[in-house]
Amino acid sequence: MTTHEQVSLTSGADFWNTQAPAGTGLPAIMLTDGPHGLRKQRTDAGYAMESVPATCFPTASALAATWDVELLEEVGVALGAEARSEDVSVLLGPGANIKRSALCGRNFEYFSEDPFLSSRMAAAWIRGVQSAGVGASLKHFAVNNQEFRRYSVDALVDDRALREIYLASFEHAVVAARPATVMAAYNRVNGTHCAEHRFLLTDILRDAWGFDGLVVSDWGAVTRRSTCLEAGLDLEMPGYGGRGDDAVLEAVRTGELSAAALDRAAESVRRLIERTAPARTAEKGYDHAAHHTLARRAAQAGTVLLTNDGVLPIGSTERIAVIGEFAKQPRYQGAGSSGINPHRVDDAWTDLTEQVGADRLSYAPGYVRGSGRTEPALLDEARRVAGAADVAVVFAGLPDSYETEGVDRANLDLPAGHDALIAAVAEACPRVVVVLANGAPVTMPWHDDVAAILEGYLGGQASGSAVARVLIGDAEPGGRLAETFPLRVTDNPVHVWPAGPAQVEYRESVYVGYRYYDAADVDVRYPFGHGLSYTTFDWTELEIIEVENDDASEQRFDVSVRVTNTGDRPGSDVVQVYVRDVESTVFRPDQELAGFTKVHLVPGESRRVTVQLDRRAFAFWDTTVDDWSIESGDFEIRVGASSRDIRTSATVTLESDRTGFAPGPAGYHGSPVFDRDAFAELYGRPLPDNVVDAPGHYTVDTPLADIRHPAATLLTTVMRRKVAAMIPATDEDDPLSLLFARSLQELPPRMMTMLSQGAVTPEATQAFVDICNGGLLRGTRKLVSALRRK
Ligand code: BGC
Repeated sequence: MTTHEQVSLTSGADFWNTQAPAGTGLPAIMLTDGPHGLRKQRTDAGYAMESVPATCFPTASALAATWDVELLEEVGVALGAEARSEDVSVLLGPGANIKRSALCGRNFEYFSEDPFLSSRMAAAWIRGVQSAGVGASLKHFAVNNQEFRRYSVDALVDDRALREIYLASFEHAVVAARPATVMAAYNRVNGTHCAEHRFLLTDILRDAWGFDGLVVSDWGAVTRRSTCLEAGLDLEMPGYGGRGDDAVLEAVRTGELSAAALDRAAESVRRLIERTAPARTAEKGYDHAAHHTLARRAAQAGTVLLTNDGVLPIGSTERIAVIGEFAKQPRYQGAGSSGINPHRVDDAWTDLTEQVGADRLSYAPGYVRGSGRTEPALLDEARRVAGAADVAVVFAGLPDSYETEGVDRANLDLPAGHDALIAAVAEACPRVVVVLANGAPVTMPWHDDVAAILEGYLGGQASGSAVARVLIGDAEPGGRLAETFPLRVTDNPVHVWPAGPAQVEYRESVYVGYRYYDAADVDVRYPFGHGLSYTTFDWTELEIIEVENDDASEQRFDVSVRVTNTGDRPGSDVVQVYVRDVESTVFRPDQELAGFTKVHLVPGESRRVTVQLDRRAFAFWDTTVDDWSIESGDFEIRVGASSRDIRTSATVTLESDRTGFAPGPAGYHGSPVFDRDAFAELYGRPLPDNVVDAPGHYTVDTPLADIRHPAATLLTTVMRRKVAAMIPATDEDDPLSLLFARSLQELPPRMMTMLSQGAVTPEATQAFVDICNGGLLRGTRKLVSALRRK
């Protein structure tokens, strides 16, 4: 391969395809979204985001709530088959970012607040997809936990949190499932862009975890391709048909980009093309109906019965009032790049009608679907319908515009209209069931007034029929929460983005999710791992066997318990194993999930289930030696049905493989650049006083709206017009309009390269920034020479 051919391989031909340099004989391959379905844009779709029909499976929140690795793998197999059928070689998923805050607008696309669970789910998904010959793209690597300033925010995270929480969520998925690709995130970590983060992309991913696949950038995450390639990135996406190659060739010529790095990147692309080749010639087509049935099964398995006074399942003669527009037009997925154009969408109303007959059902809309607002007449009608039934089922949740990529939620509330509706129905009918459609926790002011709550999450295209059948007991609610539901938003340690616009300090360190709530002894609405069943289970005979091994580092404990279905219905239970370091010289969470297994049992059936714990289950990241360490002593192994429902426990003793422990303070660095006025104007609140104000020191990362310079104002106006011409008029209930509007506010100059499809080079962008920083002459000279070079 010539150097030129190598360079061409390192960026895409367009939004979704790689290049096919003539001399190489390599074909172009397509990479596309992901994660819970295939979003292959029609070529003429532009920003309309219209894509070919595909199965919309439950989103990651719901999939994680299944706690079922086999099921995740099955879903992965189906996703792989759909991608293969559409000639897509890489499916952009799964998303393994940790739910650091319940407010992250993209939480519906992520699995859990716990890295053990998240990485196991991701691994299963990857195994499934890749068994079809299609590559997965584990994203967004790394520490990408908010949408606020998503293109540029700098996540300042200490070493222990980085390793134990944020990287751990990717680690097992990389090591055990070997994804074909990993996607470098938009944000920075401790000062450096993920796409040019040598420590993340090379030291950790390749050297420590043995990753041998391809690292692709998130779309537009590359600032300067040669710098990224040198750090460990292989493929810049999207690409612009070779625009930008000259600058990379120049970097090769000057030695700034080493031949070794370019070889590695080009070779990674070549290997990806080759490893996915068999899938491109495989037979096309897949069984839509079978995938729909699988989507329904997955939705049911991820439906969490939060509380139930016995009203569920609904009896076979009861009259059911169905209330809420979501019953007829379900909300089943989130907005943004993961939005699927589904083959079909089941709704609960139609399915209930088919299952129990129209004469047992009545309906009231309750609120307006788009906005979630209600009005007195809608409430009166709902009261009337509910009052005449034996049981009232309210379909509530979050409207589309509340959960979208690019925009974090402001609070955990349902729309006031939904809360008012539930309260009104509860006045009229003593037996109210609330079915929730949302991708992340919500608060429940009406909690104590209802008889049962089913958390259906965003359950994909079959969520309507899935929930309908759970309600009437044709299927069980198989889910357990993969995240904590706090009582109030302020109970969550991360309920605002406190560090100002450019940086976010992960001050809570390892105390994320239940690790925080447990350590701080904060009451929660529903704990991590929680979920009820229609049947009952008995857990007995805890047994812990140390499995001998000559190599001490291979020490293992087999933790087993006998689970018996003592009820009269088939059902599944999730055995969760937590480890607690009884005595420790370092800060450690009270307990951490170290293993789990899901067991399906018919009435009367009994089975011994085993969870294996290796030494890592007891370790913490030791900053004194830059490695995992175990302190000698006792560890409690706690076996529970949730983090707050420990059923049985026992103690084991481990020996450390090190002598001394004196972890030093973990440091972080970074230099803030803030503009007080711009911040206040944009976000409607003042910049915190402790944030250093340094206007004038703009970088290619400073959001355009923050740059106080006529050149930036001009550019913003031009871009606003361009975007306005591309997308329909803004409607506040339309999530995509929100995403685009927010993106416009937050776009940093470097994204101009992507928006102009490469016409604005990184050099031209830097020159523009220099001008804004006051270097009119120098900047203009640079700009002219960048334009000439093009
Ligand atoms: C998202 C990725 C997605 C990519 C391509 C980005 O904006 O962050 O998750 O895969 O776009 O659509």
